[in-house]
Parts: sequence; C-alpha cells; structure tokens
Amino acid sequence: MNNPVLQAIADRRSIRGYAAEQITEEQLETLLTAARQAPSAKNCQPWHLSAVQDKALLDEFARDYVAIAGGDPAKAEVKEGYSLFFRAPTVIFISTPVEAPSRYAQIDCGIVAQTIALAAHSIGLGTVILGRPMDVFQSPKGPAFEKAFKFPEGYKFAIAVAVGKPAISKDAHPIREGLVSRV
Ligand SMILES: Cc1cc2nc3c(=O)[nH]c(=O)nc-3n(C[C@H](O)[C@H](O)[C@H](O)COP(=O)(O)O)c2cc1C
Repeated sequence: MNNPVLQAIADRRSIRGYAAEQITEEQLETLLTAARQAPSAKNCQPWHLSAVQDKALLDEFARDYVAIAGGDPAKAEVKEGYSLFFRAPTVIFISTPVEAPSRYAQIDCGIVAQTIALAAHSIGLGTVILGRPMDVFQSPKGPAFEKAFKFPEGYKFAIAVAVGKPAISKDAHPIREGLVSRV
C-alpha cells in the first residue's frame, strides 16, 4: 500500500508485551502533540492527558487491579501475575470532566486514544488501549491514583493507552461480517 495513513490503520495492533526500555522524550512529545490535535465536539477538547512513567506507581496500580478484578468470575484471566499494562514503560491516562461539556466527551476521548495509537505506530512504537483501569479508579483507592496521576479537579478516568517498544507481534483481528449497510 502506498498510503502511509491507510497503512498505519491496517498495521496497528494491540501490543501486549513490551521491552523494558523507556520511550524517548521526543517520542513522548510527538504522541502528546498528536493527541492534542484530535477533533472533538464543538472543539471542547474535554480531556486531560497524564503521561505516567513512574514504574513503582504503575506496578502498584497493576497489583491493585489484580486484587480488585481477580475475584470476578467474568475475568478468569485476571490472576496472580496478570499484567494490566503488559509492562509498558509509559501509560497515558486520559481523563475527562465529570461535568461533561458535551454529550460526546467520552467519544472525544476515544478519538484521542486512537490518535495516540496511530501516531505511536507511525514512529515504531506499540500501544494497547485500556479500559480495565476503570475498575481501580472506581475502587476506594481511585481518588489517590487520580491525585498521583494529576487528574485535574473534577476529572474522572476515561481511557488509557499503554505505550512502549513492542516485544511481541500479533496478527490482525478478524473482521466481523455484516457490520455495514449501504443505502
Ligand atoms: C475502548 C477499548 C478498551 C480496551 N480495553 C482493553 C483492556 O483493558 N485490556 C486489553 O488487553 N485490551 C483492551 N482493548 C484492546 C482490544 O481488546 C483490541 O483493540 C481488540 O481485541 C482488537 O485487537 P487489535 O487492537 O489488535 O486490532 C481495548 C480496546 C478499546 C477500543
């Protein structure tokens, strides 16, 4: 394919294994700049980006996730050793105002997440978009993590993107049939 945007869309994967090596400052800046160029309803930009590289904090969060979700029969894969962030050295947490400025704030945050994923792919980095951290933010320790991650007052977790140098490869997901109508 000769079109780099379509190629990136086709080749991006959810990466669930990372090299320990941290991404560079330049790479992080590239991702944060791309993220902030995302479109949003009425251009509200209803998001805050917390780029977390504090390994101890990420490890604590991931351990808490296992403690919280590990008992859930619907999440049988979550047991001792489950790595919420797949050892990614950087996780970008996207938070959004509780008093949403439009009906589309969550969608806007999703667009930011995919913008980060595609930008990262284009510079040779892997990502996985993560909704599971919600369980920890909704637990009694949630407010402490919101503070530690510098969510602005009145913002809540929307979605996260783990980023790093991929240590694994993955096939494209199967494309479901019947999800398109043409009128
Ligand atoms: C909103 C959203 C939340 C997701 N949350 C998680 C998650 O918490 N953990 C995880 O491993 N993958 C998560 N994923 C990744 C999906 O499982 C993945 O996108 C899907 O299986 C398709 O695979 P692909 O991204 O490699 O094409 C999430 C994806 C989206 C869009």
